[in-house]
Amino acid sequence: MKNIILTGDRPTGKLHIGHYVGSLRRRVELQNSGKFDEIYIMIADAQALTDNFDNPDKVRANITEVALDYLACGLDPEKSTIFVQSHVEQLTELTFYYMNLVTLSRLERNPTVKTELKLRNFEQSIPMGFLTYPVSQTADITAFKANTVPVGEDQLPMLEQAREIVRSFNGLYGETLVEPKAVLPENKSCLRLPGTDGMAKMSKSLGNCIYLSDSADEIKRKVMGMYTDPNHIKVTDPGDTKNNPTFIYLEAFANDGHFERYCPEYANLDEMRAHYERGGLGDMKVKKLLNAVMQETLEPIRTRREELAKDLPAIWAMLKEGSDKAREVAAQTLAEVKRAMKINYFEN
Ligand code: TRP
Repeated sequence: MKNIILTGDRPTGKLHIGHYVGSLRRRVELQNSGKFDEIYIMIADAQALTDNFDNPDKVRANITEVALDYLACGLDPEKSTIFVQSHVEQLTELTFYYMNLVTLSRLERNPTVKTELKLRNFEQSIPMGFLTYPVSQTADITAFKANTVPVGEDQLPMLEQAREIVRSFNGLYGETLVEPKAVLPENKSCLRLPGTDGMAKMSKSLGNCIYLSDSADEIKRKVMGMYTDPNHIKVTDPGDTKNNPTFIYLEAFANDGHFERYCPEYANLDEMRAHYERGGLGDMKVKKLLNAVMQETLEPIRTRREELAKDLPAIWAMLKEGSDKAREVAAQTLAEVKRAMKINYFEN
């Protein structure tokens, strides 16, 4: 069996460092590992429209933003097919057939959908498109016969739902689709990076994100203003590192080389953490180190992004080429699906 990756993001905003450690950084590693036969990275504009149908300009504008973030982080169109979901209309057709294999109550029980519904205040007026997006996500994955889906933790219920649909399809119509598995970041701090304000998640609406496109000044301002441990008032007070976003970010980003370069009095994060926990280490020092680490990590990404942003027509051309290629692959799977379902009437 081939090793195939599919994953993607909704184009509803620029990507931030939570996306980076939660998924992007890993994707680039997997891309360059040489272990995968095919890699598909999808900009999920059709999915973004399920809750932004009244704001197509926002979705459109963010397609190039997300593509720039991808390329700046090291995704390479020579190795990964980067494409736009709505251009691959076979995905919509697959979704329609898969919908027969899912019940309304199953969709309503999907924990990620449940949380998102609450967040969006749909109350009694849930758009059907939104409720069924896990089915469309199954189409995204299966159209490319992906067995590996690198995602953040919040996507696990989507993968579970995809596996159920695949099993049900193969059981009814014969072995056709591939069951996918999720790949999560190994570093636990990367599963869900908290916001700079200490809230559980980075979110554009909360204004607590550090973006991949942020300037050096913006990064510094955001790091220096970060929430830490509210009970760590005097430097000598013992501090908490578990619920302290500055330490969680350091876990996600810092390596021993960073300590050597920017904070040589500690060999590694464990030593710094121990000092903070027993008292005697001020937030300022932690933040200064974190700022240095963030600057070093994000500077090359930002520079590359600025360079790429000078030629947006080239970005659209890259997306068009990727989308055309993706469409051919999806068309092949759709033909197999229709054959399995015995609705291939006009094939000889
Ligand atoms: N739901 C994903 C997100 O919010 C985007 C996405 C759409 C996706 N289809 C996918 C991710 C298929 C993995 C596989 O970012």
